[in-house]
Amino acid sequence: TGYITVDPGFGNTAACNSAITFIDGEEGILRYRGYPIEELAEKSSFVEVAMLLIFGQLPAKADVERFRGMLTDEQLLHEGMRYHFEGFPSHGHPMAMLSAMINACGCYHPELLSSEMDDERLLRATATLMSKVCTIAAFSYKMTKGQRMEYPDPSLSYCRNFLHMMFSMPHRRYEPPLQVVRALTKFLILHADHEQNCSTSTVRMVGSSGANVFASVSSGVCALWGPLHGGANMAVIEMLQQIHDGGDDPRSVVAKVKDRKFRLMGFGHRVYKNFDPRAKILEQTCSELFDTLGVSDPLLDIARELAAIALTDDYFLERRLYPNVDFYSGIILRALGIPLNMFTVMFSIGRVPGWIAHWYELYRDPDRRICRPRQIYTGSGKREYVPIASRG
Ligand code: CMC
Repeated sequence: TGYITVDPGFGNTAACNSAITFIDGEEGILRYRGYPIEELAEKSSFVEVAMLLIFGQLPAKADVERFRGMLTDEQLLHEGMRYHFEGFPSHGHPMAMLSAMINACGCYHPELLSSEMDDERLLRATATLMSKVCTIAAFSYKMTKGQRMEYPDPSLSYCRNFLHMMFSMPHRRYEPPLQVVRALTKFLILHADHEQNCSTSTVRMVGSSGANVFASVSSGVCALWGPLHGGANMAVIEMLQQIHDGGDDPRSVVAKVKDRKFRLMGFGHRVYKNFDPRAKILEQTCSELFDTLGVSDPLLDIARELAAIALTDDYFLERRLYPNVDFYSGIILRALGIPLNMFTVMFSIGRVPGWIAHWYELYRDPDRRICRPRQIYTGSGKREYVPIASRG
């Protein structure tokens, strides 16, 4: 009943109240629980940021230590999960594996699927999800490489342990430089939440039916996969590589965009209309990483040139299109040695705390209702049924 209007892409519809993340798109401001993203990226660990997002406060040292212990306890996968992995073709996409395995993982933790959730149980579910996604991601990488799985090392921090599982070999242990660990930490913190984006709204939508946190997070992975959302970090590198391999002039690429023959990946945002603060931090991180590693990447040079041209062009200025988080994140992931088809998996690892925070906020909302949008029907009126023998 009442007056219903269509709002394509929900650009003008608030689906909920939320106290987790604040964005001012005009001013380029992003805060988690009130804390500026710039400060968190500089001073916090990813584990602290995860606790902040989910429980609302910067955690005390003892609480972080306890949670780190829980993360360590949850690093290993149940042996039964190996059979799930073996069922995937070795060329299967890691995002498909990740979403399926997160859901499967819930089956091994029935105590965490209960409809009675509280802080302590959610902390355990968070430790399980945050640890298992790293192990699943590294496992799927090793599988596609035909290499033996490296077991997690309980003595390592969250980021170091992930890098170890990805890149250590039986005969050679990977010891990442500090700058690599810092870049990964920043990448994860910057991706940890972004209010009602497509995947988070999906998690809330699924959670609104009362679905458990594993099923809801698994649905978030599926929503993130698309090239207009988390898949953009991969699409940016493919685009830059094409420009590089074809020897194209970035100016001709911008001209194609203006002719509407091309969409510049890593540009534009539904909310940020001046700049994306995450892109600023990552551009800086890129420079630091390449300087300290003493390496260069021709794709970074092309990216900078493209950005410089686009940022002075009327087409981009009129539409207020600026580089977004994905414009530089792929270049960082390449420098860390992450293969292209795992870029969106990396985004997922970062976004898990945000998805859980939103799932829990919704779970505790006394006004929670199942999400059930309306529609305006545009199909045909009542029709006479035609038996199959009489159809032309
Ligand atoms: N390149 C060229 N033109 C663009 C771009 C772009 N990347 N993005 C938007 N436009 C134009 C679009 O053609 C339209 O022009 P006009 O008004 O003349 O028809 C105008 O800008 C508004 O675009 P829109 O598609 O209505 O904007 P939206 O808010 O629906 O889409 C977006 C936002 C992020 C999906 C879009 O900007 C885009 O496709 N960007 C490229 C993909 C990308 O980088 N995605 C990552 C987003 S940030 C991380 C995340 O959310 O995961």
